[in-house]
Amino acid sequence: MADWQRTHTCGELRDSHIGQTVTLNGWVLITRNFPNQVFIDLRDRYGLTQVVVEDSDKALFELANTVGREYVLSVTGVVRKRIAGKERSDIPTGQVELEAKSVRVLNASPPLPFSVTEFPDEELANEDLRLQYRYLDLRRRSIQQVLMLRHRICKLIRDYMDAHGFLEMETPLLGKSTPEGARDYLVPSRVFNGEFFALPQSPQLYKQLLMISGYDRYFQIARCLRDEDLRADRQPEFTQLDVEMSFVEREEVLGVMEGLAADLLEKCLGVKLSLPLPRMSYKDAMLRFGSDKPDLRFGMEIADVSDIAAESEFKVFKDCVAGGGVVRGLCAKGAADKFSNTDLKPGGKLASFVAQYKAKGLAWMKVEGDKLTGSIEKFFPDAVKAKLKERMGAQPGDVLLFVADKESVVCDALGALRSHLGSELKLYKNWWDEKAEHDAVEEKTAKKEKRAPKPFVAKPEHFQMLWVLDFPMFAFDDEEKRWVAIHHPFTAPMDEDVDRMESDPGTVRAKAYDMVLNGYEVGGGSIRIHRPDVQATVFKMLGMSIEDAKARFGFLLDALQSGAPPHGGIALGLDRWCMILAGTTNIRDVIAFPKNQKARDLMTGAPATVEGRQLKELGIELKQ
Ligand code: AMO
Ligand code: AMP
Repeated sequence: MADWQRTHTCGELRDSHIGQTVTLNGWVLITRNFPNQVFIDLRDRYGLTQVVVEDSDKALFELANTVGREYVLSVTGVVRKRIAGKERSDIPTGQVELEAKSVRVLNASPPLPFSVTEFPDEELANEDLRLQYRYLDLRRRSIQQVLMLRHRICKLIRDYMDAHGFLEMETPLLGKSTPEGARDYLVPSRVFNGEFFALPQSPQLYKQLLMISGYDRYFQIARCLRDEDLRADRQPEFTQLDVEMSFVEREEVLGVMEGLAADLLEKCLGVKLSLPLPRMSYKDAMLRFGSDKPDLRFGMEIADVSDIAAESEFKVFKDCVAGGGVVRGLCAKGAADKFSNTDLKPGGKLASFVAQYKAKGLAWMKVEGDKLTGSIEKFFPDAVKAKLKERMGAQPGDVLLFVADKESVVCDALGALRSHLGSELKLYKNWWDEKAEHDAVEEKTAKKEKRAPKPFVAKPEHFQMLWVLDFPMFAFDDEEKRWVAIHHPFTAPMDEDVDRMESDPGTVRAKAYDMVLNGYEVGGGSIRIHRPDVQATVFKMLGMSIEDAKARFGFLLDALQSGAPPHGGIALGLDRWCMILAGTTNIRDVIAFPKNQKARDLMTGAPATVEGRQLKELGIELKQ
């Protein structure tokens, strides 16, 4: 070992090392320079150790004074106890410090574009800048902790899947388009000009083929690529835990996966999930929560009041119901004084919010004492008002909010409004908010009582998880005027609905299921079609001719005719799981090198133009 190499990491030294001579390697987080001492906080991914350079060795002291933030050092010294009153109970090395005997600068660093320290009141640099210098941002303690957690989650997944008899198998990145509802990222072929590979939106087809080949239980921590509009919980390149099983019905898939979910929550956060998970039909989820991924951390369910609204004199409501639409509402408990009439009226905060979901308006009434007030109150006879109050559980101080429209618009608008109000009115707490509150109090008390702070333990109620089942098989796309698959075209219809596939596609339910956690879709899958005739009918319903289907998925149709076992599977969104377990709401926080909201990598600059020579080889000419 060379003399500069570490004997210990920066997170390792304790009281038991006092008196030993050790060498640490690491980055300088900060220095504190005094006339006769320099303190250097030396950091690596394991932790942080305080190094002290005394002025007794003049040359060493001078060198220490030239050291700046993010320099890489090798420090050899003697471990000693910190002076009384200067111990830190918040870090494991906080009882000791390293008295430097020699310091070697392994590398210097210029002043950085932003600081990688994370002091409590320090504002984080803007995200674009941090993404541009991601290698520096990745030095931040909180990101390192998240990425270490991500490693741990993958390890737990691999252990669990292995223990349950699953084989980890890889599938190609260069392949043919697998439809999952987004655009493909295409890769032009140099050898076959004019032909393209599609990067996988998921390994869906390959995993089904592996079942047909007899591998029985497969999993993969798989990269998926989808060219779609990005949101806070979506990346163009993301990771799934992809799973497929043979000779199973829905129950086996759900059983294995909820076992994994419970394992992750228990081992990462100490939370015991009670199994089996609750289940809800898609229909109920849409009716009660306006969403197929309901957040069950709070109530405020949607009430259907179409029948009562039809008895009112309010033309918008009456016409809507008469025209086959619905009127539904939310009762925001105790929120009357939280929203002014200006917030509520057309063009106000809440009405503009629902307008994003195509709602034409937001009608409202407030409950003041035993009276209802508001712009549409006059259209409701007393008896109708009483019924409305009863249906919605309205109490003095509540606000009633209504949308009238066709059912899909009402669900979208009220579902989004419910989520919005849930966080706005603080109807639930994120576990990490509660942790932050706990830690702040604990830090003070622990300091006063001279003890280590007690760790926060999350509670089961912070994690409201369920299965959403019985999705419709098809949805009618009004713009394209055709049926589209809600899950993907390989999902099996319910046995009792198969016969209606051609005659009444809108009522056919699929053997599909989603795993939902705190309002996030954290997994989705289905039992697959294993009969070629059923698969052909589905392609036909989706407007694909037999020739089309053969050209695109001929290999699958052939394979289905070659001894396909009944099979089914699921994919969990690994990034979303990491996000929730790490306590963040931004998917970019849990990915080492993410793309920004415009699907660009700000660090490397990808996507970028390429040389004319490369385009020529690919047979591509750019239009100016
Ligand atoms: P699905 O498209 O539902 O199913 O994807 C499965 C899970 O992956 C996550 N996910 C995403 N995470 C981050 N960014 C994205 N852009 C993104 N898109 C999806 C979600 C989702 O639940 N082949 C099927 C699975 C199957 O049927 O077995 C599939 O890909 O958490
Ligand atoms: P108006 O009569 O158009 O001024 O509307 C009276 C109230 O009804 C306003 O608060 C509107 O926002 C609301 N409103 C209008 N259309 C709808 C609708 N389709 N659903 C719910 N409220 C509506």
